[in-house]
Amino acid sequence: MQITVEPKSFAVIETEALVTYVFDDNDGPQGRVAELDKLTGGLLSRLNKGGELTGKLLETTLVHSPAGLKAARLLLIGAGKRDQFSGAILRKVAGVALRYLKSRSVHGLVFAVRENGGTQEFAQAITEGVITADFETDKYKTDKKKDKFIEGVAISGYSDAEKSAAQKGISRGRIIGEAQNFARDLVNEPSNKLTPKILAEKAEAMAKEAGLAVEILDEKKIADLKMGALLSVAQGSVEPPRMIVITYTPPNLKPTAPVVGLVGKAVTFDTGGISIKPADGMEKMKYDMAGGATMIGIMRALAALKPNVKVICVVPSTENMPGGKAQKPGDIQTAMSGKTIEVLNTDAEGRLILADGVHYAKQLGATHLVDAATLTGAIVVALANVNVGVFGSDQAWTDRLLASAKEAGEKMWQLPMDDEYREFIKGSFADIQNIGSGKGGGSITGAWFIREFAGDTPWIHLDIAGTAWNDDAKPWLAKGPTGVALRTLVQLITSL
Ligand code: BES
Ligand code: ZN
Ligand code: ZN
Repeated sequence: MQITVEPKSFAVIETEALVTYVFDDNDGPQGRVAELDKLTGGLLSRLNKGGELTGKLLETTLVHSPAGLKAARLLLIGAGKRDQFSGAILRKVAGVALRYLKSRSVHGLVFAVRENGGTQEFAQAITEGVITADFETDKYKTDKKKDKFIEGVAISGYSDAEKSAAQKGISRGRIIGEAQNFARDLVNEPSNKLTPKILAEKAEAMAKEAGLAVEILDEKKIADLKMGALLSVAQGSVEPPRMIVITYTPPNLKPTAPVVGLVGKAVTFDTGGISIKPADGMEKMKYDMAGGATMIGIMRALAALKPNVKVICVVPSTENMPGGKAQKPGDIQTAMSGKTIEVLNTDAEGRLILADGVHYAKQLGATHLVDAATLTGAIVVALANVNVGVFGSDQAWTDRLLASAKEAGEKMWQLPMDDEYREFIKGSFADIQNIGSGKGGGSITGAWFIREFAGDTPWIHLDIAGTAWNDDAKPWLAKGPTGVALRTLVQLITSL
């Protein structure tokens, strides 16, 4: 999909569809919408009076052959209250425009920003919005809708002086949007098409193409390094595990600069193991590698954005299967760090593989850690599919993440990490146990388990179990993988 800047004024733009957005307030057409209203002989005012154009968030109003314009269609999208408008809303509005027009076999559109909207931030948001909206999960369908595609999007409303801001926003937005789709593509793969070995191959191919250093640890190397927690999960499967390590090093690295360690859970399928999950809905557990996919996608973006900070991405990958050699409840394992773990529930496997991932990232030199994982069903109970659960050991580091989430337009909510919760995972027969002792707080005890391996290194855990997968399509996004947390972490790293 081409994304360009359209310098012409409304009246002379020739396009299949001219798109802009209207606010939900009662002060009549303003700014560029007043201009459109005038050009079209009061069309917008009439639609508004008739109740067909209210500005309510994501409402769509389509007019064919609007008088006074050269555009074949005019699509107006509700942007909600003017004082609550943001880049995050604009990203959705642009996504709605793309999916609305694509489904109607329109192939090109011009998206016009409103008065005072000619910023880099807005061009980036529109670009991310249309690129992520364009993603479909029809890879394995044999009758793809061949006539439904958008070839070109032009962004208009930027003055000559604002043109370079538009270009910068488009270029950054494209890098981030495409990285997000890359991650979503991995998450969409079913487990028979994406084993740990195949995930590692795909990560390696991406890294090589992007010019990133990459090392794949196979089962032998994993055993040599005594990654006992990862191996304990893998032993129930005939598919061997992998530890994926991708490193981005900036050109002029100061030896004292922070080194970010990104650790992502990549369980390519989670049956629960011997503590097996119910059959109903188990097919969704192919997305239990979304944390890992997000981190790999981030590295793809960083290779192009070239921030001034070193980043080490560590992705432990395995299946969680109940094979004959599978670990059993009560088994005691020794993690790479030397800590012993009593595995009370084999379905709490994400924290086991992250234990070794986090320890290894520290050993490779990470000074600041972030992990992302579809870790707990309990986070869905707490925050539904709206907010990512955030847990941190260092408030300054966590605050930076929360600020980045705001800027990236991703909803995240911090949960507490009081010492009381740590007691829940104190072991009876080993140093720690992999589930809490029965008093609720399932997401927090999961987080505490990982924190045990982060030690004093500032660490953040993102529980994306509720947000990495959309059960229903949204007007701006296909059903399925969301690529959540990628934009926030790219923002965090590029702002360091
Ligand atoms: N992969 C699951 C968590 C999950 C649940 C992700 C629902 C997405 C949707 C994880 O490995 C798991 O099974 N967690 C258990 C932990 C429990 C045994 C302490 C859970 O949440 O039930
Ligand atoms: Zn599990
Ligand atoms: Zn899992």
